[in-house]
Amino acid sequence: MCGIVAAASKFNVINILSDGLKHLEYRGYDSAGIAVIQDQKINRYRKEGKVVELTSSLTDNINATIGIAHTRWATHGKPSEENAHPHVAEENIAIVHNGIIENHIEIKNKFFKNTTFTSETDSEILAHLINHFAHKNNTLDSVHLSLQEIKGSYALAVINKKNPGQIIVARNGSPLLIGIGDQTNYIASDAHALIEHTNKFIYLEDGDLATITFENVNIFDKNKNKISREIKKSNLSLKSSSKEGYEHFMIKEIFEQPEAVKATIQDRIINNAVPKEILGPNVEKYFSKFKVVQIIACGTSYHAALVAKHWLERLAGIPCHAEIASEFRYRSHAVQKNTLLICISQSGETADTLSALRKVKNEDHYVGTIAICNVPESSLARECDSTLITHAGPEIGVASTKAFTTQLTAIMLLVIVLGKNFEITKDLEKSLCKQLQGLPEKIKSTLALDAEIAELAKVFSDKEHALFLGRGSHFPIAREGALKLKEVSYIHAEAYPAGELKHGPLAIVDENMPVVAVAPNNVVLEKLKSNLEEVKARGGKLYIFADKKAGFKNDDISQVFEIDAPMNPVAPILFTIPLQLLAYHCAIIKGTNVDMPRNLAKSVTVE
Ligand code: M6R
Repeated sequence: MCGIVAAASKFNVINILSDGLKHLEYRGYDSAGIAVIQDQKINRYRKEGKVVELTSSLTDNINATIGIAHTRWATHGKPSEENAHPHVAEENIAIVHNGIIENHIEIKNKFFKNTTFTSETDSEILAHLINHFAHKNNTLDSVHLSLQEIKGSYALAVINKKNPGQIIVARNGSPLLIGIGDQTNYIASDAHALIEHTNKFIYLEDGDLATITFENVNIFDKNKNKISREIKKSNLSLKSSSKEGYEHFMIKEIFEQPEAVKATIQDRIINNAVPKEILGPNVEKYFSKFKVVQIIACGTSYHAALVAKHWLERLAGIPCHAEIASEFRYRSHAVQKNTLLICISQSGETADTLSALRKVKNEDHYVGTIAICNVPESSLARECDSTLITHAGPEIGVASTKAFTTQLTAIMLLVIVLGKNFEITKDLEKSLCKQLQGLPEKIKSTLALDAEIAELAKVFSDKEHALFLGRGSHFPIAREGALKLKEVSYIHAEAYPAGELKHGPLAIVDENMPVVAVAPNNVVLEKLKSNLEEVKARGGKLYIFADKKAGFKNDDISQVFEIDAPMNPVAPILFTIPLQLLAYHCAIIKGTNVDMPRNLAKSVTVE
């Protein structure tokens, strides 16, 4: 949440800052701002709304070799120009901040009873606090002293007009990296913002502080001891963060799924088997010990966790619990001995998931931790014993699409590996491997439904509510379909296990309530059919995404979309695709901002 970009250079940095903000906009788009030091003064430019509001207002006369910039997702204080970062104190100090300062009111009362604050944000306190210490200290010491006072999370970049060549940064709980260039050094919340300038990055760790000039980078630990951090080369390409001819990132990412799934299984299936080495050397720590699995995740990743629970229990016979991370972290558990913790997250920076992991990972009953994650350098990937990377490539659209299907793909690989000590036989392993290998082609043929679903969206997009139904491992897919629809088209949607309908939700079914059913050809097909009859009997209009062999036919009330999803465990991955397309096309008709839906941000790095 919120994106930070900054640069110290021999040359004008304004384009680096504006372009960087555009790449980071998916992290928040309530307001944007830039501060530079020019002619020994801090000049600040801010606008409410999208980055383009800011960049189109910038004039050609900005010429500065140092600057910080920010795109905001509002937490404390409404989206407005006053609340936009950078925040300044006495025109000396400017800061950009991602995170939450929990004790900002206490600090205000302690140090600044008579100071006028110009925003409603928690972040502004940092500018004043650093400025307060800077009257008697250099900027690094002032930032360090300020951080001793605060409680909360931060990725922070600071400029002081008295040191016009230097940026100070600090990280605790929110991501921040340094890009190493030639006569320019950079700072950003993630590598996308900088990849057109450099592929060399230092990933800061919690507690780190750093000073950055155009020619030097110095890093310090929380006690201000100088430390060194490895410079890593990134494989990101500019191409991966551009739309490449598609109208939106969301549709580009939906159509990238065959390749993304292929990349996720590549080199992990060898002779129809999945070696446990895909989990890295730490697999030995927990592999023969664990007896039960606990999965934690948020949002779409939680839906992947729910499918994982079905697969682990049904295919491998491994007892499994799945819980939303923000719930898990605040309740006490009766943990079973020898529990293996699995954290699922696209970004690997989701605050609730990370906090839940940190809360329990050193507790006695947990024998190991595995991350399923799309960002190898993320906090989650670094903090778990093993990481299974989903090779989805960068996902820019706020609505998660290819991240979800690659998570499910990685989960199936994991089920096979973990199940070796349980009920996965050689024959089952072989069959699951074949199903995974067949997925990219099957996803391609499912994507061919695009035009048909675009037509459906024409009658669907004016609805105010929708009900999604599924059973078993396809209930999480119904949930995911409902989430996608809500997120990008703002149509209220709910998902129910189809058998639960008669226990209440049937009351809201009438001719105005579209009901979307996920209907694979599996053991509960006949039960599902009966549930759908109950809907028909109440006049509800049915849109059924059904396996070719499930035996559904179009009639006055039902419209059937055939999916080539044979009766096998990977079917949930295929049934996801049409629901993503439905959400996308409804959003297009409604004219919403598909890639940046209102009130949301891609990476939720605050509680
Ligand atoms: O990066 P994560 O997978 O941890 O993110 C979790 C959720 O915030 C995320 O899946 C969110 O629900 C998506 N916007 C849904 O499309």
